[in-house]
Amino acid sequence: GLVALGNGLAFGFGAYLLRTGAITIGTIYLFFHYTEMLRRPLEQITRQMQELQRASASVARISDLFALRPTAEARDGSLPPGPLRVEFRGVTFAYESDEPVLRDLSFALSAGQILGLLGRTGSGKTTVGRLLARLYDPAAGAIHLDGRDIREVPLADLRSRVAVVTQDVQLFHAPVRDNLTFFDRGVPDERILAVLDDLGLRGWVARLPEGLDTILDPRATLSAGEAQLLAFARVFFKNPGLVILDEPSSRLDPVTERLIERAVAALLRDRTGIIIAHRLDTVQRADEIMILEAGQILESGPRAALAADPASRFARLLRAGLEEVLA
Ligand SMILES: Nc1ncnc2c1ncn2[C@@H]1O[C@H](COP(=O)(O)OP(=O)(O)OP(=O)(O)O)[C@@H](O)[C@H]1O
Ligand SMILES: [Mg+2]
Repeated sequence: GLVALGNGLAFGFGAYLLRTGAITIGTIYLFFHYTEMLRRPLEQITRQMQELQRASASVARISDLFALRPTAEARDGSLPPGPLRVEFRGVTFAYESDEPVLRDLSFALSAGQILGLLGRTGSGKTTVGRLLARLYDPAAGAIHLDGRDIREVPLADLRSRVAVVTQDVQLFHAPVRDNLTFFDRGVPDERILAVLDDLGLRGWVARLPEGLDTILDPRATLSAGEAQLLAFARVFFKNPGLVILDEPSSRLDPVTERLIERAVAALLRDRTGIIIAHRLDTVQRADEIMILEAGQILESGPRAALAADPASRFARLLRAGLEEVLA
């Protein structure tokens, strides 16, 4: 707008000077040519100033994040090695203080057992996992691991003993090795390759142009199944006593499906497991079943017993097909 106005003024003034014979048409041309040359760099500077402003806002936001201190601080004493016993005691929890997402939830899972957690979307399944990793603390009640209130376990210890594989895998724009070990360069290549081997990802790494040093582009390089397998691989680099697997509901091809099946079996070996399952195969792995509805237990019990009782919700779910009911 301003430029157009300037051009207009210059044009008018130029016409006047030309009329009075002070300058030639060539001078006017030069005049416009020079303004044009000046305009582009000026625009670039403006754009860069805007970018600088946006960047400094981001830097401020990042330093705010770094300055955050966890409100969930812990006292001392660490968890024992091996599979962990899980217990929820009257847990009530709400994200925003109004409507509770979990209501007075109580259940126990013996060490080394696998719980299949089912329920409609929004019933609170993922929230159970988040509370176990202490991303939040319950508003009422307590969560115990191996008989200890998790609020009394140091957070770093808790997080190294409880692994959560989320529905959407977060990958970094970084080398494959760092994606797997969370930037722990102390993990030797042989160990990384051994884990990838176990998960059937050896061929995948072999095809990467620079092997473990290949930079992952989270959006381009991976299929959903591969991303899931990489997320599993991460778990093997810590040695958790409880694995919470929040299975994605997306469909995978049969080959990947089989790889995932094998990986899940390896993942849960000698560990307590909570699997939020969307597929029948994974559900069949569970020793116990718990169906949530609106943050409460709709039905729970040993999988085999529930499956054998034609009147149970679980048996009905199996008949109808999980995908239909839980999608
Ligand atoms: N970070 C959050 N902030 C506020 N509300 C949330 C948050 N995460 C989940 N909720 C709400 O809490 C309820 C339970 O969510 P949750 O993710 O535990 O359900 P879910 O059983 O895992 O569902 P799905 O099968 O879709 O994964 C939902 O109503 C959801 O909208
Ligand atoms: Mg969920």
